[in-house]
Formats: sequence, structure tokens, C-alpha cells
Amino acid sequence: MTVLGTGYLGATHAACMAEIGHEVLGVDGNPEKVLSLAAGKVPFYEPGLAALIARHVASGRLSFTQSLPEAAEFGDAHFLCVGTPSREGSDEADLRYLHSVIDGIAPHLRRPTLVVGKSTVPVGTAAQLAGRLHEIAPASVEVELVWNPEFLREGHAVEDTLNPDRIVVGAQSEAAELSLRSVYAPLIEKGIPFLTTDFSTAELVKVAANAFLSTKISFINAMAEVCEATGADVWQLAAALSYDSRIGARFLSPGLGFGGGCLPKDLRAFVSRGKELGVDRALEFLRSVDEINTRSRLRMVSLARQQCGGSFSGKRVTVWGAAFKPDSDDVRDSPALFVAESIQSEGGKVVVYDPKANDNARKEHPNLQYAQDAIEAAENAHVLLHATEWKEFREIDPNVVGEIVDVRRVIDGRGTLDPESWRAAGWEYFAPGKPTSTGIRPCAVGVTNQEGHTEPPKGM
Ligand code: UGA
Repeated sequence: MTVLGTGYLGATHAACMAEIGHEVLGVDGNPEKVLSLAAGKVPFYEPGLAALIARHVASGRLSFTQSLPEAAEFGDAHFLCVGTPSREGSDEADLRYLHSVIDGIAPHLRRPTLVVGKSTVPVGTAAQLAGRLHEIAPASVEVELVWNPEFLREGHAVEDTLNPDRIVVGAQSEAAELSLRSVYAPLIEKGIPFLTTDFSTAELVKVAANAFLSTKISFINAMAEVCEATGADVWQLAAALSYDSRIGARFLSPGLGFGGGCLPKDLRAFVSRGKELGVDRALEFLRSVDEINTRSRLRMVSLARQQCGGSFSGKRVTVWGAAFKPDSDDVRDSPALFVAESIQSEGGKVVVYDPKANDNARKEHPNLQYAQDAIEAAENAHVLLHATEWKEFREIDPNVVGEIVDVRRVIDGRGTLDPESWRAAGWEYFAPGKPTSTGIRPCAVGVTNQEGHTEPPKGM
């Protein structure tokens, strides 16, 4: 098979397909990326991926090229894994990379082939692309398109690809469905559900899933605002809600809200597509989800401003975290960097530290100052902001960092530090949606999972 586009999604998909036994050719227009992947190196941080790629480059099951004609010759199935970012100056998805890869490979498809769309697209795209493939490919209708959305999370990409919750495929024929079943046979044998739908449903499953997850996060952040107005504790509220299995604990962690290359842009693209389809009223609430998310970032800035006496002017502010989430070096639409930039633009002297994302952050935000480690970043700080919940930050001794700051004042934007130990070390501890007077742990009735999010105790 081939994998067209070798970003987060494509590189992971290519490596995992090799892992389950396929011969895989990864294709990318960027020569540097191809060279680096062919040498078994990954140009971004994703736990476990570099080792998997290196293993299968060495085993000969995985190789990379820039050539679409070579890919057409090689593959019985071609996976479309190119990005669909927002169009410049608009919320709509930009499908230019998808169109360009279809137009590039289709003229070389001369035998019956499966083309598998994995990119996140506005509903209606697959039907259009199928028509285009049939029109351009010499094999015409013998080239079958299926739509197979991807649900992997950055930071867990390998594990999510090898053990997905479900495999969804939008197909127009039983033969196409069976071809994809044979690709995923090793996963299906493990009992992973395989759901077959039409094109539109498959496309919608992806955007609806991301919209639902965003809604859950914004819901709890809206509750954080209510908690602040009433003196209630949003962490206790979230933990208590999570015992209701209909609600569940995941994606109910309050704080700085969602960022990254997927949830924010997919949410906006969905609203924009809804408008085109005449269902804007039905998706109107997603605008509020987006607004609450932006407000969560702004509330963190105001909380910090308040702790700086009403102005950041001349104040040193430490921001722990730059990646949009832990275990990733991805800084796209990062809440941490939004906060850092806002404070700097108001005259604060911001120093950022992230265990993996300093370099990417520096490229995008060269005006911010970066430190080599978490302690150095805190030197002479007036306030310390915890903005990305890396395990490293949870494990830091507040007594040690307390010795280097000017004022022992921390704002926990992710709610995963332990307020008791910070307070015991003489820190003033603040967190959005949490009363300042209590010393109660964020997950008083739950447990903190690997990502630092609250989960009910086992058996709930
Ligand atoms: C998201 C989806 O979770 C994946 O299922 C999907 O495949 C992917 O987008 C995609 O469309 O490609 P990802 O962007 O890797 O995955 O990140 P998430 O784990 O969803 O986190 C998104 C943001 O929400 C992060 O900034 C995180 O800090 C924030 N978040 C998450 C919260 O603020 N609270 C929570 O309770 C959970």
C-alpha cells in the first residue's frame, strides 16, 4: 500500500501498517521529509513512532519516495493522509493538498485500485473526489474510493492506530468494503469494531466526534466560570459528574481549554459547512463552544494580570508549557503560547519552557524568551503559569522552584499540580474555577491518569 502525505497522520499510519504486516511506501512532496523518514528519523516528537519507523525501514517493509507514478505502480491501496488546514482568512477547510494529490496520482492508476481517504474533510468531499478519480484515472470506475476517518490523538498516535476504538468506513460497494477489511484484518481479528456507512456518515463521524469532544471541554470550562461566581470548585464538580457513567470522566478537565491542529479548526470548518448546508441553526451552539474556549485562555490572562497587581508592565512571568498538550512538540493553536503572547503584548517579560516544544515555539514566537529547563524559566518570576500538563511539571518540588522565584505564586491552568504541596511550600495557589481558600486536591474523589486528567477510581 502507499500512504500519501507523511505528517503526523501519514507517518504514523505508514509505520503502523508496516507493523501489522503490509509493504508500505510513504509518499511526500517535501524532499527533506522523505530523506529524514527514509533514514528512520521522524521530524516531530511522537512517543514510540521513531523506533517503529526505524524498525520497519530496517526490515524493508517501509520505504519513502517523492514520486506519485512510482506510488501508483507500487500500491493496491492508496491512503490519502494530507492535511486539511483552515483556508487563509477563513474558517473553511482548505482542500488544496487533497485535490493536488488526487490529480497527481489518478492519471497513473491503470488497474483496479482502492483509494482510502483518511484526511478530515467537510461532508460531501468524498463524493466529489470519487467522481474526479473516475474521470481522470485510466482505470476509471475500477478505482474505488472509500472514506476511513482517523481518530488518533497526538502523543498516543501509535497506540491509537494499532488499537483504535473503532474503524469506520464509508463505502459505495461491498467489494471496496471487503478490500479495506482485508487491510485491517489483524485489527478486526482483535475484536475492534468495523462499522460500514455511506460516504457522508463516515465524513460526519469524524467532525461530529471532534465537535463533541470540544463541547465537553467547553462545557466544563463554562462550569468553571459559574464556579468562580459562586465559590464552588470545578474540579470537585468534574470529579463528581464523572461517576455518572452516562457523562464519563474523559475530556472533562477544566482549565485553559483546547488547542492544536484539529479540534479548533475542525469545529470552525464544521460550522462553516453547516452554513453552506443551511443547517446553521443546528450548529449555532458550536460557536459558543468556540467562544467559551477563547474565554478560557483570556480568563487565564486576566487571573495572571490580577496577580501582577493589575498590570504586567515590567513583571516577569514564567509559562511552563508551549505544546498544545503534553507528550507532543506541536504548537499549533497552543493555549499556552496564546497566553504567553498576550502577556508579553501587555508589557510582561515572559519566559517559556517546554520539555519538547521550545524549538517549534521559538520558530512561531521568536519574540518570547525561552529557558533550558523548568527551574531556569522561573528565575525571578512574579507569577508562574502552568499551561501544559507535562508529567515533568507535576513532579517538580515546589520548594526547589520556590527558591528561584521572586514571588511564590502559581496559577495552575491545567489543574494537575498538587495544591496541598505547593501551599505547604509557601506558594499562593490559584486555578481557574477553584476557590482560593480550599486546599483540596483537584481530583478529590478521582484519580489522575497518565495525561493528568481526572478519572473516577477503578470499577466506576
Ligand atoms: C483530537 C481528537 O481527540 C482525536 O480523536 C482526533 O483524531 C484528532 O483530534 C484529529 O482530529 O486528528 P488531538 O488534537 O491530538 O486529538 O488532541 P486531544 O487529546 O483531543 O486534545 C485537544 C486539546 O484539548 C488539548 O489542547 C488538550 O489540552 C485539551 N483538553 C483535552 C482539555 O482542555 N481538557 C480535556 O479534558 C481534554
